[in-house]
Amino acid sequence: MGFDTYNRTVVNSWNEWDPLRHVIVGVADKGCIPVSEPAIEYDVPPEAEVEGKRGQWPDELIARATEELDNLANVLRKRGIRVDRPTAIDFDKPVVTPDFEHPSMIGCMPARDVLLTVGDEIVEATMSYRARWFEYLAYRPLLLEYFNSDPNMRLTAAPKPRLGAASYKPGYFADTNISDFGTIINKADSRYYVTTEFEPLFDAADATRCGRDIFVQHGFTTNEKGIDWLRRHFSNHRIHKVNFRNDPDPVHIDCSLVPLRPGLMMANPDRPLVMEAGKEDLFARNGWEVVMAAKPAHAKPQPRCYYSIWLSMNFLTLDPKTVVVEETEVYQNEQLSRLGFEVIPIPFRNAYSFGGSIHCATADVHREGTCVDYFHRQ
Ligand code: ARG
Repeated sequence: MGFDTYNRTVVNSWNEWDPLRHVIVGVADKGCIPVSEPAIEYDVPPEAEVEGKRGQWPDELIARATEELDNLANVLRKRGIRVDRPTAIDFDKPVVTPDFEHPSMIGCMPARDVLLTVGDEIVEATMSYRARWFEYLAYRPLLLEYFNSDPNMRLTAAPKPRLGAASYKPGYFADTNISDFGTIINKADSRYYVTTEFEPLFDAADATRCGRDIFVQHGFTTNEKGIDWLRRHFSNHRIHKVNFRNDPDPVHIDCSLVPLRPGLMMANPDRPLVMEAGKEDLFARNGWEVVMAAKPAHAKPQPRCYYSIWLSMNFLTLDPKTVVVEETEVYQNEQLSRLGFEVIPIPFRNAYSFGGSIHCATADVHREGTCVDYFHRQ
């Protein structure tokens, strides 16, 4: 099926692997240096040229990331996939609501974090960082276009959070040096996360979709109330709360649990998965194999990138036989080839500091297929 078939906008995506036909790829335009806030403490590496600076990233860094993001868009287009791009707003502006003020926004590179597509619906996540309160505005031109052209598309904004003092545990990071991962891991392992249960909070990237079953990471960016909201909202689905141990920054599931195709899940060998009581062997009892991801090729994160080296497993699946992977992640690439995938390697490391790797930078609009129940035995 060629491009023309999908020129007409149809919002439809139920999982992470069915053939991709229409996708959003983020942009680095106007991206800003993130500023610490109650939900997150940024450790600016001393060697980074941005130390002490605020506001937009230097033009040169934006240009390098743009080149890689544009290349991703072109690689997808050449394969007949429709690619849309968000419209950057002036992110270097304070975020002001009646409940808080924060000096600036971040950008609109990681579309995955904000938009959760389930079937014919796109949900704008509540988000949980103050800097990201208005990020959905960068996607509104596209979302309204989809709403106008697809009569079945459902456009939903999850309840806007207050993100005032009541939403965070006071001084969560204050009593630890943030490079002291041990202390934070201890807190996180006992599920003492930075957000409170004052209101529903979730980032879209904490969810990963497998048809009727959606797995949602409970951690720093998604609280139990956020998962409860998703459970009530997607009442025809089964929403599974998952936790990961040994992760100093439990945010966004796509470096921890990555569905590859029906029956095959990839997990992070450093972060043991904890399922809810009674669901411990959900994968095994439904005939799913869980493979451990290959080790990352890099010993340290990319400079100015605030995510871990496990961005190695943050690839984009184009169909059950094809994946787009960062080109320097040689071990991950080899493993995926061994698992039977055609691997399309692309450069992406300059884009990392704008919000992550290839899966982070994209959001599904249309994949072929319908809502399938892959987990009959609950
Ligand atoms: N928590 C992940 C790690 O550093 C990063 C996930 C980024 N994902 C995203 N959608 N922004 O290992």
